[in-house]
Amino acid sequence: MTDKPRVWVSRPTFDSEIARLAPHFEVREESVEAKFTSVELAAKLADCDAAIVGLKERVGAAEVAGARRLRIVANLGVGYDNLDLVALTAAGIAASNTADVLNESVADFTWALLLGAARRVGAAERWLRAGQWQATEFKGWLGADVRGRTLGILGMGRIGQAIARRAQGFGMPVLYHNRSRLPEATERACRARLVDKDTLLRESDFLVLVLPLTTATRHAIGAAELARMKPSAVLVNVARGGIVDDAALAAALREGRLAAAGLDVFEGEPGVHPHLLALDNVLLSPHIASATTETRRAMTAVAVDNVLALFGHGPHAGHPPNLLNPEAQSAARAPFPTREETTR
Ligand code: GLV
Repeated sequence: MTDKPRVWVSRPTFDSEIARLAPHFEVREESVEAKFTSVELAAKLADCDAAIVGLKERVGAAEVAGARRLRIVANLGVGYDNLDLVALTAAGIAASNTADVLNESVADFTWALLLGAARRVGAAERWLRAGQWQATEFKGWLGADVRGRTLGILGMGRIGQAIARRAQGFGMPVLYHNRSRLPEATERACRARLVDKDTLLRESDFLVLVLPLTTATRHAIGAAELARMKPSAVLVNVARGGIVDDAALAAALREGRLAAAGLDVFEGEPGVHPHLLALDNVLLSPHIASATTETRRAMTAVAVDNVLALFGHGPHAGHPPNLLNPEAQSAARAPFPTREETTR
């Protein structure tokens, strides 16, 4: 035990980044991946000053009720639907995410899913591995062309924009729907045109979902929306499970009302709807769109920077760069110290 503040790191991550905490904190890092119950989480947080958590940790009022010293929860992810920001703010606990450092890796992976679903890569590989390749039929394994077809993006934040920029290489017109219109210069750089949601659904040959999960976006793509899409369309979800009604999607794919899907996220993951698992025209991955060595390391670095900053250390001393709830400061247990204050 030391008198340094304590930081809990909920999952094994990049040691070289976590090591930057050691001069200032007693670091408690989990050595294996585990799924914690609410009670276990509350116990882990109870005597910590800071926490770095993953998306599987759901942190809200119950988990922080006994965490009297806790001042920041740094999320290892850009999405933060696992954090109850209202509860954290009310408790004076800062929250941060890892926005931006993962944009390009997620955009790359989105294209991997899009192309893989269009060209039936998953099913073809399963067939080959099953020893079924005796001869290749000329009309076997026909997929859909991508070039020149219309890409639709629902949720045009920075990841959506990175996906749109890549569409230029495929000569694809890009439509998007978003809460607000992008600045004209950004629209030009992305060669993207704002349309209403109905037009997006009707005109997209490939529809990519990149919006956050909130109460307003839950089942943003359900049976009614799927019915408006072209039967030849391909749906790609790299955002969050719950944005798509997975049961309705599986029915549309099974009945030929939608050609294919590429999914990195699922309702109730790590569980996957059994009807999706039974289909060949859906390419599935286990929530890995940001999973490159460089990006996962950079995400860890951002989480560490936010914790350091809140305690007045590092290049952003006093100003955590990815703060999600600046208003927590007014309810905070102690004001965020600046570097000057910590070096005095
Ligand atoms: C991944 O899903 C993230 O939100 O970073």
